[in-house]
Amino acid sequence: MRVTISEIKEFKQKKEKFVMLTAYDYSTARLVDEAGVPLILVGDSLGMVLLGYDSTIPVTMDEMIHHTKAVVRGAKHALVIGDMPFMTYHTSASDALRNAARFMQEGGCQAVKLEGGVVVADTVKRIVDCGIPVMGHIGLTPQSIHQLGGHKAQGKTPETAERLLKDARALEQGGAFAVVLETVPAQLAKLITEKISIPTIGIGAGADCDGQVQVINDLLGMFSDFVPKHAKQYAKLAGIMKSAIGDYIGEVKSGKFPTAAHSPSIDESLLKELD
Ligand code: KIV
Repeated sequence: MRVTISEIKEFKQKKEKFVMLTAYDYSTARLVDEAGVPLILVGDSLGMVLLGYDSTIPVTMDEMIHHTKAVVRGAKHALVIGDMPFMTYHTSASDALRNAARFMQEGGCQAVKLEGGVVVADTVKRIVDCGIPVMGHIGLTPQSIHQLGGHKAQGKTPETAERLLKDARALEQGGAFAVVLETVPAQLAKLITEKISIPTIGIGAGADCDGQVQVINDLLGMFSDFVPKHAKQYAKLAGIMKSAIGDYIGEVKSGKFPTAAHSPSIDESLLKELD
């Protein structure tokens, strides 16, 4: 049985911490799913960690749908969330609905995520009213980095902290089933978590959020461009992968690979008949 949004909301009621992880392809989604992660986010972070863009802004709906389909094929149990890319939910309510519907119909996921608070609350309500679960995302919203002046912590003054609380409440009222809090002071994240009824999922927002989210490439140490402050590397796969690739190069050059076991063979007498 696939995880439902009710079960995610119950985590908060039961005070049971939970995790969300990103995945962008079938094989990784299978591993994440089999490890027992209840929420898989097909994040637009794929633009940076998978496609090599320098921000999430260039990511398109078609790219997101392509990866969402692969993740959905790999995740049998987790609730899969498609991350709506830059400007796919701002231009009009009908654009937002159409794009959210594409995630469900073409991508096959069970929910969508979008960035922003008060400004997108009506849009969230429209999408939710149409039967599509929505996850919010406030604080450092990477699609707005140029407006925010870079990847900076948010909510560090009384005014901006109050704005974030209002954003969280607006998403709750709009019907979002959970909200990501990215790079906000831990004390503010705790307060927001206490003040709203839907689960908060933190990334760089302290230990008191109801759940935590990480980008899989950061967690596994596969993304070697930089390690964000909010990330913890539970493995250092980049080094392991490079060393395995180096071994492969070395063995091919030295003739150690492939061996007879790696290809089919036929009786050599059969080849004598060939010119
Ligand atoms: O795109 C993404 O991966 C995200 C998470 C960092 C929450 O939005």
